[in-house]
Amino acid sequence: MTSGAPIEAKDILVSGIKPTGTPHLGNLVGMLRPSARLAREVTSYLFVADLHALTTARDGKELRRHVYDDVAALLALGVDPERAAIFRQSDVPQILELAWILGCLAPTPLLERAHAFKAATSEGVSPTLGLFSYPVLMAADILTLGGTLVPVGTDQRQHVELTRDLARRFNQAFAGALPLPRAMVESAAIPGLDGRKMSKRYGNTIPIDATPRERRALVRRIVTDSSPLGAPVDAESSTVIQMLRHFEEEGSVREMAESLSAGRVGWAEAKDRLADALDRDVEPLRQRFIAIREDERHLETVLRAGAARAQAQAAKTLAEVRSLTGLGRPLDPGPRVGPTTLARRLDEALTMTFPASDPVAIGGTR
Ligand code: TRP
Repeated sequence: MTSGAPIEAKDILVSGIKPTGTPHLGNLVGMLRPSARLAREVTSYLFVADLHALTTARDGKELRRHVYDDVAALLALGVDPERAAIFRQSDVPQILELAWILGCLAPTPLLERAHAFKAATSEGVSPTLGLFSYPVLMAADILTLGGTLVPVGTDQRQHVELTRDLARRFNQAFAGALPLPRAMVESAAIPGLDGRKMSKRYGNTIPIDATPRERRALVRRIVTDSSPLGAPVDAESSTVIQMLRHFEEEGSVREMAESLSAGRVGWAEAKDRLADALDRDVEPLRQRFIAIREDERHLETVLRAGAARAQAQAAKTLAEVRSLTGLGRPLDPGPRVGPTTLARRLDEALTMTFPASDPVAIGGTR
């Protein structure tokens, strides 16, 4: 279930996934599935946030592999790369330029209060500038592409709020017109095997490429309360029931919860039910994922085409932003020109701006 204002035809969806491991059920429920569904309805930019991953990733080969994992997952979920631009964040350098500009507007006390930053530091991660400015980069992702709709898990809601805040600050400071995005939040995050948020960091995930056997074994590891048989259990708040809710209809989940609470069935049976539900729902996805993941050349083609489209949009935003902020050489005023000529000049100016830093050779945009 998601919350937020209704979707409009003119919405632009921006959504990122961090390539830190094979996608798991938490990613599936929080970002991948909602994004894939919405990408059928509105203009969408779905990207793999490799720059964000670099806050923790230290193995280049592995990072590249995980980028492909995420792209394959999006395709396996039926995202049509002709409709939605699927790209790699680091292929669109304009994002980093906007991140710097937004960083010049972001009060550090605000960033110090960001949940993700506080959580990481409280877990003993020694903070870097990259980790600290993580939300600023995320704001740049969204604003560079003119995003208005951002499907995220609950833990990312605050980052979207910060994005709105930074857009407002930019608009106020420079008389800009960056649109303010709204979050579309998957209301019930899926818990991990130990009941905490499902996260690679906690080692409590069910990856989407787990075989049926592996999946069932993981489900059996889900922590349940150890009250003696027949003692009343709080089934509603249990991890098994909360997980089941994402893969089975509400009516039958409630029945299961009641049977558990009444002591008519035990945890083992409930876990079997969950594993069965995953076999029905996730197994076909796994098989598509495995098949698609094999062809890295195809994945790379998808990423390049997506980058070209994202860059075209990013170039427009940055031309406006540069002009408002006074960055870069001024556009040659020349003779008075109409809006079409002006737009072409802007495009030309931009091609001059990024020649060396553009890692992707792009033969025209689509
Ligand atoms: N921070 C998000 C996460 O950890 C990933 C992300 C990066 C993102 N940039 C984004 C999500 C922009 C939505 C929009 O899950």
